[in-house]
Amino acid sequence: MSSDLITVLSEDHRAVEQVFDELQSRQGGPAQRSALVQHVIIALVRHAVTEQRYLYPLVRQELPDGDARADREVSEHAEAERVMADLDAVDPDDHRFEALLAELVGQVRNHIEEEEHELFLRLTQAVPGDVLRELGDNVRRLMTAEPATDEQALHSGKGTVDTVREALG
Ligand SMILES: [Fe+2]
Repeated sequence: MSSDLITVLSEDHRAVEQVFDELQSRQGGPAQRSALVQHVIIALVRHAVTEQRYLYPLVRQELPDGDARADREVSEHAEAERVMADLDAVDPDDHRFEALLAELVGQVRNHIEEEEHELFLRLTQAVPGDVLRELGDNVRRLMTAEPATDEQALHSGKGTVDTVREALG
């Protein structure tokens, strides 16, 4: 079944929120929480790459303030990736872990809020449904691709953020 770009990206937001809820419930041991952090970093980098490839070009093209809007989103992604790299480098029992997690959750929730309560609504009005559906099919393919296994990321010697970005090309 084909779904449009906005539906696919919104579903991806829900999946990330679910992992954040799990992490912030503080259940599970350090190893489990560490695996969840890595899982959510992979998901977020893939989300950012997807939006940069498919969403922002559309925003630039279709909205009058599109360039400024897309530039802001790209710099917000870069900020979130800096926090992810820091979070990736600390253990769940490190005293900095909860603060870094809270910072990342705040940034991502803000991103989700801005997109779903404003940007996506404007795009739905500005862009024909068949264009959004075609982009949605492309995005669905990228989202279901395995960019890097947790194992590869763990043993690459690089951080998870860089490993996933490289794997996605
Ligand atoms: Fe998003």
